[in-house]
Amino acid sequence: MTAAPAAPPALAAPPAPLLVVRGLTVTTADGTPLVTDVSFEVAAGERFGLIGESGSGKSVTSLAVTGLLAPGLTASGSVRLAGTQTVGAADAVLRPLRGPVASIVFQEPLTALDPLMRVGKQVAEPIRRHRGLTGAALDTAVRDALAEVALTEPRIARAYPHELSGGQRQRIAIAIALGAEPRLLIADEPTTALDVTVQQDVLTLLDRLVRERGMALLFISHDLAVVSQIVDRITVMQRGRAVETGATERVLWAPEHEYTQRLVASARALDAALDAAPRRSSEETR
Ligand SMILES: Nc1ncnc2c1ncn2[C@@H]1O[C@H](COP(=O)(O)OP(=O)(O)O)[C@@H](O)[C@H]1O
Ligand SMILES: [Mg+2]
Repeated sequence: MTAAPAAPPALAAPPAPLLVVRGLTVTTADGTPLVTDVSFEVAAGERFGLIGESGSGKSVTSLAVTGLLAPGLTASGSVRLAGTQTVGAADAVLRPLRGPVASIVFQEPLTALDPLMRVGKQVAEPIRRHRGLTGAALDTAVRDALAEVALTEPRIARAYPHELSGGQRQRIAIAIALGAEPRLLIADEPTTALDVTVQQDVLTLLDRLVRERGMALLFISHDLAVVSQIVDRITVMQRGRAVETGATERVLWAPEHEYTQRLVASARALDAALDAAPRRSSEETR
């Protein structure tokens, strides 16, 4: 007689997504809404994008997620980060989340760097704090962290931020953000302040790091062409509201909301102009 088939595994509830934002509203002291009733979620290991024109509330949303809103701004609704409610949470609740759960890379790397400290030391700090390394082990970890962001010249660790290029500074900011081995990396326009040629390098780097580490990514940009290269799912924001959410391909090829349709159309128009431009100039120089 054959053995009875194994019982099916008990139906466990799927794990809650790493980040769950529900009805997030952020208002100024005089009651002006900056973000209104925004909901989205990011699963562990997922790459998710927030896109919208400048001023649409993307940065305010990302700051609310980690409880870093400017004084005077008030959040309501719910943000659960690795199961912890961050809306209205005390700093003592938020502090352990910043780093190991979520780290942010900002648009302007200089805002994240201490101008008076050598960058190697700044990269070392989160590694020491979160991984408890010291001495030679810490030095090695810093070298590895710099190599991971493709900074291998020995002079870099000894440099001050102003001695590096914009692209190198953003790589340092990324290394610092990764030092705590976050489960979610929030990148708020990480390539916007960089030269176009460097933008693509940093994007490729982020793509590789997220893949290798299995990190979740919340990638924020005003640039649909940039976002669509790196994320699987997108929420489109306009004037503080989430107007459309979907898989990247669906949003690009079948945008539903009128504002998304305009974004896609203008990205396509730019693409067409770029395609046409080299032909035109090479004909002119002939
Ligand atoms: N601390 C603040 N106080 C008042 N208004 C703010 C503050 N921070 C941002 N805003 C306003 O909130 C809106 C959304 O800003 P933001 O989230 O930075 O937009 P973006 O989508 O470009 O990142 C903008 O109108 C901005 O001027
Ligand atoms: Mg912004």
